[in-house]
Amino acid sequence: MTSAFGLLAELTYRCPLSCAYCSNPLNLADYTDELNTDEWRRVFTEARDLGVLQCHLSGGEPLLRRDLVEIVAAASELGLYTNLVTSAVGLSRPKAEQLRAAGLDHVQVSVQSDEPLLADRIAGIPSFRRKVEAMGVVKELGWPLTVNVVLHRQNIDRVAEVLELAEQVGADRLELANTQYYGWAWRNRSALLPSRAQLAAAEVVVRAARERLADRMDVIYVVPDYYSRYPKPCMGGWAARQLTVTPNGDVLPCPAAQSLPLPRASVRTDSLDWIWADAPVMTAFRGTDWMPDPCRSCERREQDFGGCRCQAFQLTGDAGRTDPVCHLSPDHALVTDVVAAANTGTTDLPLVPRPHRGR
Ligand code: SF4
Ligand code: FES
Repeated sequence: MTSAFGLLAELTYRCPLSCAYCSNPLNLADYTDELNTDEWRRVFTEARDLGVLQCHLSGGEPLLRRDLVEIVAAASELGLYTNLVTSAVGLSRPKAEQLRAAGLDHVQVSVQSDEPLLADRIAGIPSFRRKVEAMGVVKELGWPLTVNVVLHRQNIDRVAEVLELAEQVGADRLELANTQYYGWAWRNRSALLPSRAQLAAAEVVVRAARERLADRMDVIYVVPDYYSRYPKPCMGGWAARQLTVTPNGDVLPCPAAQSLPLPRASVRTDSLDWIWADAPVMTAFRGTDWMPDPCRSCERREQDFGGCRCQAFQLTGDAGRTDPVCHLSPDHALVTDVVAAANTGTTDLPLVPRPHRGR
C-alpha cells in the first residue's frame, strides 16, 4: 500500500447547476449533514499526516459553503496545494479576492460548451456568461486556470470551438473529459454516448491543437472508455493513491464508490489513518488478490487494475467482476450493445437535467 497523496474534499453536494452528466450520488438527502469547518480542519490535518499533498475542494458547488474561505485557509496553512473545483457561478470578485488572500492555489472551472445557448441547456440554467466573467477574474488575480469540459454526444462536435474558448479565457490547462456514466449521467447515457464518427473527428482536432498549443496550454483528453479495448486504470488502482471525503464525512476510494454495497467509514467515528489502512471500503479491492479471472492471470493486471469497480458494479451488479469495458471480460457485450445503439440511433435524444438542488 502506498501513502495517499490526493484528497478530494467534497464540501457539499448542493449546486446551482442541473447538469445532465452529473456523477454525484442520486440520494443527496443522505448528505445534508455536512462536516463543519473544524471537522474539515481535522480531516486536512490527518490527510497531511498521511502524506496528502494536494487538496481538491469540490462538490456540488463548493462556493455554496459560507465558510469556504476558512476551509481554504485551513488547508493552505497546513501546506496543502489547494484547487477549487467550481462551476464559477457565485465566484464574485470580492469572494475571489478573499480566497486569494486565504491561500487558494488553483482554480478549475467547468464549462459545458463554447456556445452560450447549448452550454446553458446542458447546465440546466443560464450560467455561461457568468462563467466567462468569473474566468476573467481568475486570470486577473493571477491564478493558474484549468477549464474542464465534460464531452458527450451533444457537445463533442464543437471541440474546436471549445479549444478556442479556452485560449480566449487564457486557460493554462484544458481537460476534455469524456463522460463517465455514474450517478445522474447513467440515466442520460443514451443521450450522452457519442458515436464512433464523432469521436474520430474530435480526436483529429485535439491532436492538432495539442501540437499547436504545446508551449501555451496543456490539453488533456480523457478517452471514452466504452470505445476502448482495455479499461481505464481507475483512480490509479482502488485505494492506492487517492481518497475522497464526502460532505457528511464518509471516506471513499473514489467519488462514485458510495453506490457500492460496502460498509461505511466516516471521519466522524474513525481516524483517517485507520480508515485508509484498514477500513473494509478501502481494502475490498486494493491490490490484485481480489481479482477473478480473466484479470487474475492477465499480464495487464498491474497496469489497469481490472478497470473501474464502480463501472463493474453499475453494469453487472457485482463490483468484483472485471470491468465490462475490457474486451476480455465475459460481460463485454453489456458495453458493445450500448455502443452499437449509439452508432445506429438518433442523434438528438433529449437530456434529462438533474433536478435543481442549489440552496
Ligand atoms: Fe485489465 Fe482484467 Fe482486462 Fe486484463 S482482463 S486487461 S487486467 S481488465
Ligand atoms: Fe470508483 Fe472507478 S469510479 S473505482
